[in-house]
Amino acid sequence: MKFVIQDSPVSMVDPSLLLRPEKVYDGKPVDAFRDYSVDESDPIKERVRRTYYEMHTKMNVDFVRGRMADWLKFNHFKMSIKDALIKLNELVDESDPDTDLPNIVHAFQTAERIREDHPDDDWFHLIGLIHDLGKVMAFYGEPQWCVVGDTFPVGCKWGQAIVYGDDSFKDNPDTYNPKYNTEYGMYKPNCGLENLLMSWGHDEYLYRVLVHNKSKFPKKGLFMIKYHSFYPWHAGGDYKHLLKEGDEEILKNVLEFNKYDLYTKSAGVPDIEALWPYYEKLIEKYIPGELEW
Ligand SMILES: [Fe+2]
Ligand SMILES: [Fe+2]
Repeated sequence: MKFVIQDSPVSMVDPSLLLRPEKVYDGKPVDAFRDYSVDESDPIKERVRRTYYEMHTKMNVDFVRGRMADWLKFNHFKMSIKDALIKLNELVDESDPDTDLPNIVHAFQTAERIREDHPDDDWFHLIGLIHDLGKVMAFYGEPQWCVVGDTFPVGCKWGQAIVYGDDSFKDNPDTYNPKYNTEYGMYKPNCGLENLLMSWGHDEYLYRVLVHNKSKFPKKGLFMIKYHSFYPWHAGGDYKHLLKEGDEEILKNVLEFNKYDLYTKSAGVPDIEALWPYYEKLIEKYIPGELEW
């Protein structure tokens, strides 16, 4: 498999942005990506590879259930959306080759590009702004390999489109567990996307935070967050045998979101100070106050 890297201006570049299977978008190869094959002599590539190998070694059914039992008590801290956005800026990603622009720029760029194309869907603008907020887990003891990066379901055979492939799962105990290592594993055929136990990361966490704190986003917006890093499914086409009717609608929405998250080489840095009042109003409308995290 060929891997490519996105030439990203983002300060906190997570491995999922740096490395993914080559993709065609709107019928054309995405030229914002460049070849990113494994190269042990390149320290940045090696850091990304190590992050994924660690994730693929340790992410399994028991581990995910453990992380959920811990985080889904929502007793770690209390914080508003705005403060969480500002906080995320302090996160230093070891895999980051570019420290020019802070993460909040990525948040505003994503949001503003969505706003350009979908002026009337204000909930969508805010989804763009907050989509990576689940990464605040990294400030509360969660290592980056279970915060950032592509996600995938645990409890069944590893998808063929997962970056680094089977080799990266060779030390994962679930690889050898007959309960979990078949095509369906612990799932029923066509059980549906929502019934998959996803690897632990910032997608699932933020989705749960937004539900727990009774946000008023439409369901499709919440799903954009929940599955935006599920590349083996939305870009790789894996796991079709586990999907049910209606999941294709979720796919459509996730892909619509993802083009703003990923294929948005920056034309310019948004004037964040000038934009805050608009987004503060949206926060007030959809997810106000101090949230439980
Ligand atoms: Fe993300
Ligand atoms: Fe993002």
